Amino acid sequence: MTRYRWAGVLAAGTAIVVATISPKAADDTPAPVTFAKDVLPILQRNCQSCHRPGQIAPMSLLSYEEVRPWARAIKTKVESRQMPPWFADPQYGRFANDRSLGQPDIDTIVKWVDGGAPQGNPADAPQAIEWPADGWQIKPDIIVRGPEFRVPAHPPKNVIEWTTMVVPSGFTKATWVTSMELKPSDLSVTHHICITFRPHTPNVKYYVMNWQESPRDAEGVAITEEGQQAPPPSARPGGGSPNAGVGPGTGGGFFCYVPGVQADDYRLYGAAKLIPANADITFAAHYTPSGKEVVDRPLVGFTVAETPPQKQWISYGISGGGPTFAIPPNDSNYLSPPMEMEFTTDVDLVQMMPHMHLRGKDMTYHLVYPDGRDEIVLNVPKYDFNWQIVYRPQTTIRIPKGAKLHVDAHYNNGTSNKFNPNPNQTVYIGRMTWEEMMAPFFGILVPRDVEAASVLKRGNFVLDGGA
Ligand code: HEC
Repeated sequence: MTRYRWAGVLAAGTAIVVATISPKAADDTPAPVTFAKDVLPILQRNCQSCHRPGQIAPMSLLSYEEVRPWARAIKTKVESRQMPPWFADPQYGRFANDRSLGQPDIDTIVKWVDGGAPQGNPADAPQAIEWPADGWQIKPDIIVRGPEFRVPAHPPKNVIEWTTMVVPSGFTKATWVTSMELKPSDLSVTHHICITFRPHTPNVKYYVMNWQESPRDAEGVAITEEGQQAPPPSARPGGGSPNAGVGPGTGGGFFCYVPGVQADDYRLYGAAKLIPANADITFAAHYTPSGKEVVDRPLVGFTVAETPPQKQWISYGISGGGPTFAIPPNDSNYLSPPMEMEFTTDVDLVQMMPHMHLRGKDMTYHLVYPDGRDEIVLNVPKYDFNWQIVYRPQTTIRIPKGAKLHVDAHYNNGTSNKFNPNPNQTVYIGRMTWEEMMAPFFGILVPRDVEAASVLKRGNFVLDGGA
């Protein structure tokens, strides 16, 4: 027996056997918008990846019973386009993983809520989506256990520094992986975790915690030992040098978990990534204390290719800005020195992920072709630090040899930025959230045997990881 509401026809609470009832009204009035027929398919496509148990969203939106209490909030959030989170300017490019709602879907949800949010006939509902077990997005063939990170309840100044640890990958032979996902066990404290693969060295120390400590002032802002605000990164040993050039290809990849991230899935493009035999994995984690001590045990999941792929996927963790980057106090529209990367060979662009910190305002990726033509491939006009989103073009974008990826970004160090921790400070490039980053991460496809480090000409950027 299934309970359902049929406003105006049946008294509320009347129980009927669904299979014998046709949902169509007898007269010609348009069928009401219902949860089962109209709204659930939208939630399945655009919301449930986050709004289900074990994921980052605060409530599950799988069933009518779960959704009904949120109907008004859902209307507000979709009308204002705050949900689903998606920030690409629709004027430029189409994206394979675009989860934003089209206007017809928004209209459907609004009509449904305005019509009393009826369930409709459960027999109209699409089949429930079978999500992979244990909160995975992919169905991993191999799972590598990461280190345990103990996250204190109340650390000094309520700040937990970046922590890094190396673990063995366990891959005894070189392996092409076709998708990769990093899954923290405790989402409530995980700000982000990045992993890079590195060749095994005999003297590596596994499971040793390394803190990247910075002395701080009363507000938790990094300071020098003399109590001054930290100098610009160009003045720090090894930091921010614009011509540090292309780092060594680490082999096997660079991947981050950030809230709401979609797994890296190279199968979309028939590509894969090579994890070198006996590689080690460096975990770099940033946690936010929650007032309760917890232990996070991140896992890395992979699917494995049966045959070597035609194409290799390379992701670049890259940062620019350089030594002249300095946002003056109260500047609400600071333009970063541009970042420009020239390609030494033909590649296909498959992924972009703008990364800045709390003062990040907008970022635009241009392709400048050898003939001078300039094409915007991604524009994020309202960057939101709370959402680190990967944008995957619908079809791969060819970047010919000699073309440049040129990226511009603005920052708001004014009081109109409600996330600004301190508008009276000059802000330089740095890893902590009160410092800034100008990091247009991206991913490309190249023929299988091309080296990550050989693809980019030296330029005004630093490669934090490329493979
Ligand atoms: C990428 C993950 C993600 C997707 C996709 C997503 N949400 Fe959310 N949603 C969140 C998170 C995280 C929050 C809580 C933080 C916030 O409000 O930003 C949230 C908050 C909300 C809230 C506010 C809850 C409250 O406490 O007031 C509503 C309503 C909502 N989402 C509806 C939707 C709907 C409807 C969709 C699909 C059309 C959707 N969301 C898609 C992650 C997501």
